[in-house]
Amino acid sequence: MDPHAAETVYRGNLDRIIAKIRDERGLDLAQYRTRYVERRLATRLNALGLHSYRQYAAYLDEHPEEYSKLIDTLTINVTQFFRDPTVFDVFRSQIVPQLLEEKRRRHQRMIRVWSAGCSTGQEAYSIAMSFLAGMGPDHGGFLLSVLGTDIDPKALEIARRAEYPLQQLAHIPAADRRRFIEEREDTFVIKPEVARLCKFQQLNLLTDSPIHVVDVVFCRNVFIYFNRQEQDRLLGVFWSALARGGYLVLGRSERIPPGTKPSFELVNGRERVYRKPYER
Ligand SMILES: C[S@@+](CC[C@H](N)C(=O)[O-])C[C@H]1O[C@@H](n2cnc3c(N)ncnc32)[C@H](O)[C@@H]1O
Repeated sequence: MDPHAAETVYRGNLDRIIAKIRDERGLDLAQYRTRYVERRLATRLNALGLHSYRQYAAYLDEHPEEYSKLIDTLTINVTQFFRDPTVFDVFRSQIVPQLLEEKRRRHQRMIRVWSAGCSTGQEAYSIAMSFLAGMGPDHGGFLLSVLGTDIDPKALEIARRAEYPLQQLAHIPAADRRRFIEEREDTFVIKPEVARLCKFQQLNLLTDSPIHVVDVVFCRNVFIYFNRQEQDRLLGVFWSALARGGYLVLGRSERIPPGTKPSFELVNGRERVYRKPYER
């Protein structure tokens, strides 16, 4: 077969698998980056000893339980407390104090944060600890709520439990550990002072209505899955979700392309922190 014809067959079979997953599970992989989808599919094909998408499509027909395994592979949940510590250093030492100062000036008490693509919850709890550490006694009179959302219900179950293996403790700064963590035998739990401020909800960023109105959006290491068109659309979603002056924190390998409209202000380029301007 000439290379052009082979490429057409390959694309056709890939599109067929994407259509099957959309019809069976409502997840539209056409919105994800093609290279990412190909890499994840390769993992499943390897595991099953299959050699082509055509074989894999037939396998999906014969073994419908494979859909869940494929979706698990696609929604990689890797995360950790205070992931990329320098981001959280900037968040804690600059963003939190600035936001609290502006809230005080405006006589506003509510602070709402959205951790979009929160996986098993470590990001949401890290955000809550960072705020509580900066708020002072009695939370400085502020009312904080952190909403973590993810497409994966199993990850959300872990998040709600607020209990993690002891090995993960090392990622939490010592002062936060002393104040917000209770150690058990092989695990530790997030104390209620923090845990009760964090709620978790299933939400597909590609199809579900977003959360309104929030002061901060963390959407880290999720964007990389999506194609450019979806990234642009999501930036618009976050823009609308944010209050004026609200912050957007992306992952270290993610950025807002120059010229994106509506435009965000750059707060810290290295740490990928942006801000919705007060005035347009
Ligand atoms: C690598 S984790 C990132 C977790 C955390 N934000 C961090 O940076 O450590 C990516 C998460 O995105 C979620 N995800 C993938 N596609 C999604 C979608 N369409 N809607 C919502 N969440 C999605 C996955 O389930 C996974 O938990």
